[in-house]
Amino acid sequence: MNHEESLAEIFEYYGKQLNPSQQDNIVAMLREIQDLLGCVPEGVQAQAANAVGTKESVIRLLVQRFPSLRSASYQHRIIVCSGQRCGSKNAAQVLSFLRKELEIDPEGYSKDKTIFLSTQNCLKQCGKGPNLLLDGVLHSAMTPEKAKQLLCNLKK
Ligand code: FES
Repeated sequence: MNHEESLAEIFEYYGKQLNPSQQDNIVAMLREIQDLLGCVPEGVQAQAANAVGTKESVIRLLVQRFPSLRSASYQHRIIVCSGQRCGSKNAAQVLSFLRKELEIDPEGYSKDKTIFLSTQNCLKQCGKGPNLLLDGVLHSAMTPEKAKQLLCNLKK
């Protein structure tokens, strides 16, 4: 079975569930798509939305929000907390350091496309902030120096 046939099968299966547009169902579908293709490509998101009767913007948002999902086959994902409490502890400095260091483009990709950077409003660990998630793992009390160290470790 080629990828297109497998995708069609996934769309059909999740489109037939009792409440296809429910978040759990959509996320399960997106996970399967990612298992198949390595990511949930932007080109597939409209079809996925169609299959479960939701908007493409909903799919895009879910791909952005779930750390385990991604829209391109980058190698690492960094999510910097943009919540108020992290903000009061200089999270913005960490974010601007990462943006500059990685030469992040307007879509969030590093210059070499290996890292995807985004923000999320409150990672629910406010006391430990500023926080970021690197590939789903929480790193707390971040500073630009610590962020630099994390990037160095990624290259090893
Ligand atoms: S504001 Fe950053 S974890 Fe809550």
